[in-house]
Amino acid sequence: MIATIDSARLSTELATLASFSETPPPAVTRIVFGEMDLRARAYLEALFAEASLAVREDAVGNTVARWPGRNPKLPPVATGSHCDAIPNAGRFDGTVGVLGGLEAIRALQRAGFQPRRSIELVLFTSEEPTRFGIGCLGSRLLAGALDPSAGETLASNGQSLNQVRGAAGFTGALADVRLAPGSYSAFVELHIEQGPLLERDRIDIGVVTAIAAPASLRVIVDGEGGHAGAVLMPDRHDAFLAAADIALAIEAAARGTGAVDTVATTGVCEVFPGAINSVPSRARLDVDVRDIDLARRDSVLAAIGRACDDVKARRGVRVRLEPINADPPAQCARQIVDAIAAACDARRLSHRPMISRAYHDSLFMARIAPAGMIFIPCRGGVSHRPDEYASPEAIAHGTEVLADTLASLAG
Ligand code: GLV
Ligand code: MN
Ligand code: MN
Repeated sequence: MIATIDSARLSTELATLASFSETPPPAVTRIVFGEMDLRARAYLEALFAEASLAVREDAVGNTVARWPGRNPKLPPVATGSHCDAIPNAGRFDGTVGVLGGLEAIRALQRAGFQPRRSIELVLFTSEEPTRFGIGCLGSRLLAGALDPSAGETLASNGQSLNQVRGAAGFTGALADVRLAPGSYSAFVELHIEQGPLLERDRIDIGVVTAIAAPASLRVIVDGEGGHAGAVLMPDRHDAFLAAADIALAIEAAARGTGAVDTVATTGVCEVFPGAINSVPSRARLDVDVRDIDLARRDSVLAAIGRACDDVKARRGVRVRLEPINADPPAQCARQIVDAIAAACDARRLSHRPMISRAYHDSLFMARIAPAGMIFIPCRGGVSHRPDEYASPEAIAHGTEVLADTLASLAG
């Protein structure tokens, strides 16, 4: 059985999916439960139905398309990824794993393959943290890694997650989203590398062996506002400048580990009241810290805490630090890593083991199923930018490897 990928169709579908965007091309912005996200979901569901897959949705909007196996009672093999996109993103992050997963299933169908286990394609809700401040919302709930009370505590513009998902048509109890361990016999996610290594070394496929540990936190600084002309410099307690000091200390803490795998980013800075002639009275930072080594990641979090105390004392401001998440890394399962490597060998595609420094829904699926990831090269390692690009050949190679891996795992 040789599964042949329809690369032209896959490229066209990726382009169509990219057209559901809140920003003009080439940028893609698709915020969870926004109009474009809902239209993208409807487009994908129509494609799933066209491939004769049975579609179901859970209370948070995770959408599952099922190809029944010869023995439908066995735990299925699953694949999938996300279709939400951060502001000003590209068209390949997540979508390659969704549409590539669909094309892998269609290619297996065309080849006449009849899987023993069912194969399920999962479209995860809100892998990106943009709207509710925490990444992997759907897969966290599936894995039981997020308390269902998050429906009331997580909010977007004053509306709770429960209100927002309800308005989007996703009702029911979040507690029911959770899957029992063993619900899937395996999970495999196809994704662009989002780093430069495969392209640089001219390698077709990255076989992911582990996913780095992400943490995020919010820092709220309260200082003293006032008139930009009248408050004398020695008297100031500028909340933005205190936040800027903290952001620089965060950079220093990450660099200070000396490890290339330690990264920290202050990606959000909001200043209140945000007027040119007003000394900032409040500033908010949202901070992302990651490392493949959990202890080293946590040492950076501790250093950030110390930096906040220092700035508080030095600048006479109040600083509140709110942890959002601090997740451990995930190890990919030996059997999935081996199955992906064997699929690459059979297709004569070069491959290398690698860690994922980005997080993915696989981070949480690995808690309830043996999991693994297939990476493909992307130009310049660029991601989370409009110029993100993966070639049709690279996508086809990844999809071939996914199809063969699913076939071998489903039997
Ligand atoms: C996922 O988008 C990540 O930030 O790693
Ligand atoms: Mn992303
Ligand atoms: Mn992604």
